[in-house]
Amino acid sequence: MSKINTARNKSKPLAHSGLYWLFLLWTCFLVAWGAFVRASGSGDGCGTHWPLCHEKWADLTWPLQTWIEYIHRVTSGLYGFLILGLLVFCITKSIQKKLSSKDLLLCVGVFFLTLLEALIGAFLVKKGYVADDTSPIRAIIVGFHLLNTLILLFFLTGLRGHDKDRTPLFYASKPHFYFLFLFFFLISVFGSWASLAHEFYPQFSGSFAGILADFNASSPLLVKLRIGHPILALAFALFLFNSQKIHSKTLAFGFLFLQIIFGFLNLSFPGNWPLQIGHILFYLAIWISLCHSFWHYSAQDSFRTD
Ligand code: HEM
Repeated sequence: MSKINTARNKSKPLAHSGLYWLFLLWTCFLVAWGAFVRASGSGDGCGTHWPLCHEKWADLTWPLQTWIEYIHRVTSGLYGFLILGLLVFCITKSIQKKLSSKDLLLCVGVFFLTLLEALIGAFLVKKGYVADDTSPIRAIIVGFHLLNTLILLFFLTGLRGHDKDRTPLFYASKPHFYFLFLFFFLISVFGSWASLAHEFYPQFSGSFAGILADFNASSPLLVKLRIGHPILALAFALFLFNSQKIHSKTLAFGFLFLQIIFGFLNLSFPGNWPLQIGHILFYLAIWISLCHSFWHYSAQDSFRTD
């Protein structure tokens, strides 16, 4: 590794790869467990109490749904302390002039986005926007929640140590990366709405007649919108497969391919939680690969120029 790279890595708050993967995997676990809370119908496992469940620290007589929701809260709480530790570390390094202002900004961003994530979660619980609540405001907040998670992951991956010998999964110009990010945001928001629609109105047959039935005048807006998610997702995949401007490694295509397979399976078997979690895990894999690739070329300032 060159001197320049070593110097850059020293200043990176998560230069130690073990520590970086701890932060990253913990974040992914929380996202997947959050999806499991919803998919298993445990969203109101703790009633409208927050942060404790039914105002207790623990109770062996709680039903399974309460434990599922409680585990999400405990692991998110511990994560909060981890992120606070990261912030203190970054501020200390910055005072010692051993951290770039960009990395300090990323650290502060991760901290505030984590805080916002917790506040959104608390708001959903306190206001009762959980379980079978079908209000449009819940759909808006859930979409925003997912966007917040994506941005949090983007900032977190920016704190990783840099290794110029790594070969990222995506190679593109900076504007193309931004385009992919925006496209991904849109698919995500529509995905979160598809999830809600599937939860409340699972009677989707997947046939052409079933799709048309979604557009009945009496259908709720969420149902009318749910077809938007697979359309956008397939457009995204086609764009990536055909683009001359974005180079993707086989593994990236593999993630995308599996994501689409899981998407179709989710469509055919609504409410099947292992399929829902599989869809979320490949989703995270694609997003993290995109972020890693972006930061890799950003550190070397070697994005594609054509
Ligand atoms: C680029 C590819 C894709 C991405 C990034 C993506 C992303 C997502 C996301 C973020 C969710 C929300 C998950 C949650 O809130 O728990 C979701 C849900 C869903 N997606 Fe996709 N998706 C993709 C492809 C597809 C395809 C091709 C289909 C169908 C043909 C599909 C069908 C679904 C369904 C049915 C749900 C609701 C699952 C549930 O009941 O929770 N997805 N997707």
